[in-house]
Amino acid sequence: MTIELLRVEGLCRNFGGLAALRNVSFSVGKGELVGLIGPNGAGKTTCFNVVSGTMPPSSGKIIFDGKDISGGPPSRVVVSGLARTFQSTSTYPGVSVAENVYRGLLSRVRGTTMARLTGRHEHLIDPGQVDAEVNALLEMFDLQQWRDSAAGSLAYGLQKKLGIAIAMATRPSILLLDEPAAGLNHEECNELGRLLRELQQRQGLTILLVEHHMALVMELCERIVVLVQGEKIAEGTPAEIRENPAVIEAYLGAPDYAHA
Ligand SMILES: Nc1ncnc2c1ncn2[C@@H]1O[C@H](COP(=O)(O)OP(=O)(O)OP(=O)(O)O)[C@@H](O)[C@H]1O
Ligand SMILES: [Mg+2]
Repeated sequence: MTIELLRVEGLCRNFGGLAALRNVSFSVGKGELVGLIGPNGAGKTTCFNVVSGTMPPSSGKIIFDGKDISGGPPSRVVVSGLARTFQSTSTYPGVSVAENVYRGLLSRVRGTTMARLTGRHEHLIDPGQVDAEVNALLEMFDLQQWRDSAAGSLAYGLQKKLGIAIAMATRPSILLLDEPAAGLNHEECNELGRLLRELQQRQGLTILLVEHHMALVMELCERIVVLVQGEKIAEGTPAEIRENPAVIEAYLGAPDYAHA
C-alpha cells in the first residue's frame, strides 16, 4: 500500500441489540481503489455512514489524512476532503442539474470555520470560478445537455452519475461510493467502470467502492475488504478474495453471485 489516507480502527456500531459493525479495521492508501463487499446487511452502508460522520461510531476511530474525524459532523468531514454518494440516488430532484452541481461546490465551504463564524457560505466561493467549474464537471460526466433539466426528471442512470458529479464538486481526495452500479444497464455499467478508472488514474482520486456487481469490483479494485454480519472476514487482492473459502461460503457462492 502507498501512503495511508484513510484508516478505520476497531470500528463498532450498535443499533439497540444489533451489532452492525464489530471491531472493523482497514486502511485505504492514497490513490488506491479499494472494494468493500459483503452480503445484504453486512454493515457496508453503516460503515460509510460512520466514516462520513452521518452517525457516530459506538466505539473505534476514523483517521483521515492524519486527523481523527470520528463523529463528524458530515459538513466538516466533507470540507476535510471525504465525499460519499448514497445507495439510493443522492440528488436534489426539484432543481436543475447545474444547480445540483453548484450545491456540491457549496458543500466544500459550508462546514468551514469561516462559514460558521459568518453564518454564510455562498460568499466563500469565487463567483468568477463557479460557472467554469460547474461546466467542467458537467462535461466530465457528460451531462451538459441536461444542465437545465430538473434532476428528478432524468433517467435513473443519469441521476446516479449526477450523484457522483455532486460529490466530485466538493473536490474530495477520497470518494466513497455506495452501490453506484445498482440499477444501471450493461452499457451504463461499463461507462461507470471507465469513469471510475479515469478519476483514479487521471485525477489521482482515492476510491472506496461498495458494490454487489462482482465483475465490476474484480475488474476495478486493487484490494478488497469483505464484511459479513458486521465483521471483517477477509482482505486481499481480487484473486485472493475470489478463492477465499470463507468468502465463497458467506457471499460469492450464493446463487446471485455465482457468476462472479
Ligand atoms: N439506522 C439503523 N437503525 C437500525 N438498524 C440499522 C440501521 N442502519 C442499518 N441497520 C441494520 O444494520 C445492519 C447492517 O445494515 P447495512 O445497511 O449497513 O448493510 P449493507 O451491508 O449496506 O447491506 P446492503 O448490501 O443490503 O445495502 C442491518 O441488519 C440493518 O438492518
Ligand atoms: Mg447498503
